[in-house]
Amino acid sequence: MGNRLIGYGSYLPARIMSNADFERVMDTTDQWIVERTGIRERHFAAENETVADMAVAAARAALENAKLKIDDIDMVIVATTTPELDFPSVAVQVVGRMQAQKNIPAFDVRGACTGYIYALHCARAFFTAGMHERIMVIGAEKMSRFVDMTDRSTAVLFGDGAGALIFERSSSSYSGIIDTVVMSDGKKFDMLHGSPDHKIIMNGPETYKQAVTLMPDAARYIMDHAGITPDDVDWIVPHQANLRIIQSGAARLGFPLEKILVTVDKHANTSGASGALALTYAFDNNIIKKGQLVLYPAFGSGLTWGATLIRV
Ligand code: UT7
Repeated sequence: MGNRLIGYGSYLPARIMSNADFERVMDTTDQWIVERTGIRERHFAAENETVADMAVAAARAALENAKLKIDDIDMVIVATTTPELDFPSVAVQVVGRMQAQKNIPAFDVRGACTGYIYALHCARAFFTAGMHERIMVIGAEKMSRFVDMTDRSTAVLFGDGAGALIFERSSSSYSGIIDTVVMSDGKKFDMLHGSPDHKIIMNGPETYKQAVTLMPDAARYIMDHAGITPDDVDWIVPHQANLRIIQSGAARLGFPLEKILVTVDKHANTSGASGALALTYAFDNNIIKKGQLVLYPAFGSGLTWGATLIRV
C-alpha cells in the first residue's frame, strides 16, 4: 500500500528580518552571515502570532491546492518543537480551528530539525498499514521565540514559518513518500538543545561536523535501500540550516550543484518546517516538477537525523 502527494501549501510571516537588521542590534555583519551560513534574510512571526496560527495558514493553503476540505483528511500530523502550549497538540488546534466536523486524529511530532522526516515516517507507516486515506503533514515553527539576541552565534541562524503536504493512499509504492529512515543519538544531547528559559544552546562547530557526515549517511542509506544512485535522483532538498553544510553534504554524495535546492538564503533555519517550506517554494516556482524524485535528508537537536525519498 503506497501513497501519493496531492497538495501543498505554506505560510511565511510578513515581517522579514534582513542581515542588516541584525547588524543594527548586535556585533555582526552581513558579510559574516552570508559567508559562514548563506543566510540573507528570514521571516519572524509577530509577537502574538503562534505556531498554530502559522500551521492553520499552511493547512488552508494545502487544502485549497488539493481542492479538499479539512473533513476530507483523516489524520493530521504536525512537526514542531516550538509550540507555545504544552498541550493540547498544535495538530489538534489546527483541526479545531478549521471547524472540522469529523473527529480527525491529530498529534504532534517533536524531532527538532529532523521533525518533518519523523512526521513523514509516521505517515508512511500508516499508509503502509492501510490505516488511513489522506494524511496532512505540517511542519510549523516559531524559532524566533528561542532566539537570544545577546548570542550572535545562534541569533542570526533561525526563522519562522510553516509548510504542509497532503498525501493520499495509492496502490503505487513508487510515488509520494517512498521511503524514510530516522535515527537518534541522545548521548550527543549537549551539542544542541533548548534551555528551560527558551534559549538555543549550541556548539556550532561540533554540530557542523556531525551534520556534514550524518546527513549524507542517511541519504546514502536510503539510496542504497531503494537501489538507486544520485543519477536517479532529480533533486536533493537538504534540511536548510547552513549553505556550507548543504553543499559539503551534497558533494560528499556526488550531487552536482544544479540538483541542490537552496532556500536557506530566504528562510534561514526553520527547523521542523524547513523541508515542507523548501518543497513548497520549489513547487510554487516551478523548480521541482510533478513526477520528479526528491531526496530530503535532515539533521538536528537530539541528535536526530534521517532522510526520505519522495516522488512528488
Ligand atoms: O539544524 C541543525 C542545527 N544547527 C546547525 O546545523 C548549525 C551548525 N553549525 C554552523 O552552521 C556553524 O558552526 C555556525 C554558522 C553556527 C558558525 O560558523 P563557524 O564557521 O563554525 O564559526 P565559529 O563558531 O567557529 O566562529 C568563528 C568566529 C568566532 O570568532 P573568533 O572566536 O574566531 O574571534 C565567533 O565569535 O565567528 C564569530 N561569530 C560571529 N561573527 C560575526 C560567531 N557568530 C558570529 C556572527 N557574526 N553572527
